[in-house]
Amino acid sequence: MPIAPFISSTAASWMNLCRPRRFRIGDCGLRKSEIHNPQSAIANPKSINVSVPDASEARILIADDQKDVLEALRMLLKSEGYKTEPVSSPASIIQALEARDFDALLMDLNYARDTTSGQEGLDLLTRVHVLDGTLPVVVMTAWGSVEIAVEAMRRGARDFIQKPWDNARLLSILRNQIELGRALRKGQKLEAENRLLRDVARPKLIAQSPAMQPVLDLIARVGPSDANVLITGEHGTGKEVVAQTLHAISIRSPKHLVTVNAGGLSEGVFESELFGHVKGAFTDAKADRVGRFELADGGTLFLDEIANVPLNLQAKLLRVLETGEFERVGSSKTRRVNARTLSATNANLNEEVAAGRFRQDLLYRLNTIEICLPPLRDRRTDIPLLAQHFLRQHAQRYRKQVTGFDDAATRILLDHPWPGNVRELDHVVERAILMAQGSVVKASEMGLRPGREGPPRLEEMSLEEVECFLIKKALSRYDGNVSKAAEALGLSRSALYRRLQRYGL
Ligand SMILES: Nc1ncnc2c1ncn2[C@@H]1O[C@H](COP(=O)(O)OP(=O)(O)OP(=O)(O)O)[C@@H](O)[C@H]1O
Ligand SMILES: [Mg+2]
Repeated sequence: MPIAPFISSTAASWMNLCRPRRFRIGDCGLRKSEIHNPQSAIANPKSINVSVPDASEARILIADDQKDVLEALRMLLKSEGYKTEPVSSPASIIQALEARDFDALLMDLNYARDTTSGQEGLDLLTRVHVLDGTLPVVVMTAWGSVEIAVEAMRRGARDFIQKPWDNARLLSILRNQIELGRALRKGQKLEAENRLLRDVARPKLIAQSPAMQPVLDLIARVGPSDANVLITGEHGTGKEVVAQTLHAISIRSPKHLVTVNAGGLSEGVFESELFGHVKGAFTDAKADRVGRFELADGGTLFLDEIANVPLNLQAKLLRVLETGEFERVGSSKTRRVNARTLSATNANLNEEVAAGRFRQDLLYRLNTIEICLPPLRDRRTDIPLLAQHFLRQHAQRYRKQVTGFDDAATRILLDHPWPGNVRELDHVVERAILMAQGSVVKASEMGLRPGREGPPRLEEMSLEEVECFLIKKALSRYDGNVSKAAEALGLSRSALYRRLQRYGL
């Protein structure tokens, strides 16, 4: 790559953009002789016309093996309101970055090992970039070592300063890089949040039956508090809707409700989903990733299918629930979060504890309050209300003028055992809307056989229909208990979950 154009399109453009109007390069920069007199370098910092809007918050790691250079930088940056942390070796740079967050790193390329080639600093850049790809790094190079500066930028440095440096240029570069770095980090977080937000629907909890009254009472009482709530109930009974409702009526509602589903995730993926990872933590970790705990900071974290959390991760989960502390995968830096925890399962966690698959201390952490959702067959008076709600939703979605169910269709709805609970009702109504030819759904358009007609003939079904049929049967036999149904079908829980999703059960 030709060096000159590369330089002119990066650093040089910064110099033009950032140079204050009444200042010229060299006007108050450090001469070599001045390096040993830090005071002289910043004798009159006010004369530098560079505004630093929110410098008071910014923290800069400065690295150089010469004490007086560090002191000169510290005083210059302090006069502009920056907080600095000085370090003097490659190892202490890494240590500091692992321990704390910084807004920028200003580092020399030469340390004790050899003092001119810059190789030590270049190697370090690669490591720094792996630790935190969003951290703006500005390198300091000896006067005239343009090739090293170019190589540094190839390895992830955002800009370079030549020694002896020019105060105004240094401040201007740092200010811009700090702003860019913040924007980058904010963008990364926003992008992850937006992805989640697209998935979260506004809660609408329909419940008027006597069986749901205790549930509604509990929701009203514990919703506004910060209490951890464990929501239990068969598959499809509305556990997620209850979690959304609890969050919506809490003081945390302006912040996010972030969901982690432990059901279909493999062990390795689950840890990084929950805690995030740093670039290079494992083969596919191409960039830093913010975990769900961090995204839920100030809001609520919903741990769905909690029984599926692998035993070895249960200890880490317990720690973050108790102390708010955790580390991203591949990093030793401890981070803190403040999130309320809601969790849900259709397994019997006491049985899981007895079988040694679930930690009792974790269960006690999660179930400060337990809300148990009754199956749909035990709250039949809610069926017409729910059916009407889904009918309105799907009629609108598919632009069909369907307003209700005729009497025979309503009877089928009331008689059906609903092994898949409210979710099954939702899907049956969706299919009925698609089939409906008039303004009301007829019994023949329901796709449900009226009650006692006998099972469908296997030989007339496709392989997929048979699989779906057997899954429904198993769920019905075990009252919606996914663990038991999976065991009976000879599948793991996560394999069954994937099939439930595929068949919309
Ligand atoms: N009381 C309710 N009012 C309105 N909609 C409901 C209600 N209960 C459930 N639903 C709807 O039924 C579907 C299934 O509900 P949800 O996902 O909350 O069940 P779940 O108990 O979490 O199921 P799973 O055990 O499979 O995770 C969703 O589309 C949800 O919106
Ligand atoms: Mg759920």
